[in-house]
Amino acid sequence: MKGLLTLKELSVEKVKEIINYALKLKKGYRISYPDKKMATLFFEDSTRTHYSFQVALMNLGIKVLDFDSKESSVNKGETLYDTVRTLESLGIDGVIIRHSADEYYKELEGIEIPIFNAGDGKGQHPTQSLLDLMTIYEEYGHFEGLKVTIAGDIAHSRVAHTNIDIMTRLGMDVYITGPEEFNDHSARFIPFEKAIDEMDILMLLRVQFERHQEKMKMTKEEYHQNYGLTYERMKRMKDNAIIMHPAPINRGVEIANEVAECEKSRIYKQMTNGVFIRMAVISMALDGKL
Ligand code: CP
Repeated sequence: MKGLLTLKELSVEKVKEIINYALKLKKGYRISYPDKKMATLFFEDSTRTHYSFQVALMNLGIKVLDFDSKESSVNKGETLYDTVRTLESLGIDGVIIRHSADEYYKELEGIEIPIFNAGDGKGQHPTQSLLDLMTIYEEYGHFEGLKVTIAGDIAHSRVAHTNIDIMTRLGMDVYITGPEEFNDHSARFIPFEKAIDEMDILMLLRVQFERHQEKMKMTKEEYHQNYGLTYERMKRMKDNAIIMHPAPINRGVEIANEVAECEKSRIYKQMTNGVFIRMAVISMALDGKL
């Protein structure tokens, strides 16, 4: 299948090529595809990914069709394959899909237009990881040897799983932390207080209540007390350390309100970089480089 489904299919060299292209686009380089049309299909809620893909398409001169699953024949039982096959038949040149099913794209074997995965269940979120890496690269100029901890609801996070794999392959020193109930042992564990003191990058995750089968064992207040990045904890971080978060953020749960936009926070820069990363992957796919 063409497009971008997971980062597992990309070499480290290709990941760096995407980041460098996104940086070039951020500096003002422009390329346009005025004859192309692409559709965004979001079967799960989204603010950042949905609209940043749309802005990326607009910046590339590509016409955008925003598929509304709630007013479509999905309600009559149409399968994901038939929806995408229909859009392909109508002359759509690529689709961007977010879906609650892990590896939904396996159902799309036979589709010839590029498919960009905007998040599949608890599986992967490739463009989120790429924008995270771009933000880290802008900060430090390299990846090798950087110490990063991903903190919080690891077990339910496609962002954590995508990042753990690619960050390890890039030579970063990757740890996870958080409550035992969210630890899926996908990376080395480090106590939260130790991570605060030692990391170059602290990546906080939203507690993903909507994915929980069982109620969280602690209250939101207890979570904040034990695992939240409070102002006092933020002040203990290394001088050049940065705070990241894929967002949406739960202010007052995993991050204190006053820390979300502090000097160390790169949360809104991550969102800005997302537009350029999405422009880069769409452009590379259309040019046969992905
Ligand atoms: N980071 C992220 O995927 O945010 P949305 O769910 O708002 O797209």
